[in-house]
Amino acid sequence: MQKVIGLYYFSGTGNTEYVVQILQIKLQSYGFQVDILKIEEIFKQNIAIKPNEFDIIGLAYPIHNWGPALLALQFTKNLSNVENKPIFIIETGAGPQGAALNEASTLPLIRNLESKGYRVNYEYQFSMPSNWLYCHPVPLQRQLCKIVELKAEMVSKEISSLTKRRKRPGLLSKLLIAFGWYPMPLAASIYGRILYASAKCNNCGKCISGCPVGNIQKNSDKIKFGWRCTSCMRCAYLCPVRAIVPRIGKMIVLKNWYGAKALLSRTDIEDNFITEKTTGFNARYKKYLLQKDNIA
Ligand SMILES: Cc1cc2nc3c(=O)[nH]c(=O)nc-3n(C[C@H](O)[C@H](O)[C@H](O)COP(=O)(O)O)c2cc1C
Ligand code: SF4
Ligand code: SF4
Repeated sequence: MQKVIGLYYFSGTGNTEYVVQILQIKLQSYGFQVDILKIEEIFKQNIAIKPNEFDIIGLAYPIHNWGPALLALQFTKNLSNVENKPIFIIETGAGPQGAALNEASTLPLIRNLESKGYRVNYEYQFSMPSNWLYCHPVPLQRQLCKIVELKAEMVSKEISSLTKRRKRPGLLSKLLIAFGWYPMPLAASIYGRILYASAKCNNCGKCISGCPVGNIQKNSDKIKFGWRCTSCMRCAYLCPVRAIVPRIGKMIVLKNWYGAKALLSRTDIEDNFITEKTTGFNARYKKYLLQKDNIA
C-alpha cells in the first residue's frame, strides 16, 4: 500500500519552501503520497496536528543561529505522543552542509521528538543562499538553488530505501548551539523591537499579512513591531520598497537577496561558479556542489 508522508514545514523567506516543493515531487516519484503542511497556518488557524494520519512525518525548516527556527521547535512541542513513528528532518542553512557550525542544530528538536515516541532516522541539510548578515556571491546563490533537484532526488532515494542518516555533533557544535541558539527567543524578540519601517513605506500592508506570527500591526498609519518576532527576515524581503530595516546592524538585511525562484529564472548569471579550481572561502561549498558528499 502507498505510504503517506506528512511533510510539515516552516520557511521564513522561501528557501525551505522551495526545497519542500521539489522534495514532494521527488518523493512522489518514489511512490509516496506527500501531503505538505505549513506550520504557521497550523498555529494561525489553530488546526489540530494529527501525526497518526501519516505513516511517516517530515519536518523542514531553516537553521537560525545554529539551531532550529523557533516555529519548528514550537511545532515539536505541540506534537502529540505516538508509538515509534518514523520522522525525517530537512534543514536549509547558509553554511556549507556538514560544517561543524550547524552539526548540533537538530538536537533541541530531537529531544522533544524522542520523548514523544518519534524515531528520528534521517536528517539532511540543504545548503541554500544566506538570507541574513552574510551574502553569498549571486552566482553561488544560483548554483546552490540549481543543485536542489539533484540533492532532493538523492534524499528521496535514501528515505525510500530507509537509509539511516544522523548528524554526529562534536563539542564545538554543542557549544555553539548553547551560546548562539538557546538565547534565540530573547534575541529574536529584541530584533523585532529594533525593526522599523522607514519613510519609504507606502502602507501597502504586505508585511502585516505576511508575518508568520502576527507581529506587525498598523497604528495610526505607522507600522509597529511587537515582541513576538522570530527573526525570520520575511518582512524585510517581502516589503516591495525595502522599507523594513533594523535600527542597529542594517547590513543584516541583504541588498542582493532574490529568493530561489527569481534566481533560477535569471539567465544573466554565470553558471558553474564553484569548480574544482575554486580556492579560498567559497571552496567550502565544493564538496556539496561537486557531489563529493557521501550521499548515495
Ligand atoms: C536569524 C537567522 C539566523 C541564521 N543562522 C544560520 C546559521 O546558524 N547557520 C546557517 O547555516 N544559516 C543560518 N541562517 C541562514 C538561513 O538558515 C538560510 O538562508 C535558510 O535557507 C533560510 O531559509 P528560509 O528562506 O526558508 O527562511 C540564518 C538566517 C537567519 C534569518
Ligand atoms: S516581524 Fe518580520 S522578522 Fe519578525 S517574525 Fe514577523 S516577518 Fe519575521
Ligand atoms: S510591506 Fe513595506 S511598504 Fe508595505 S506596509 Fe510594510 S513596510 Fe510599508
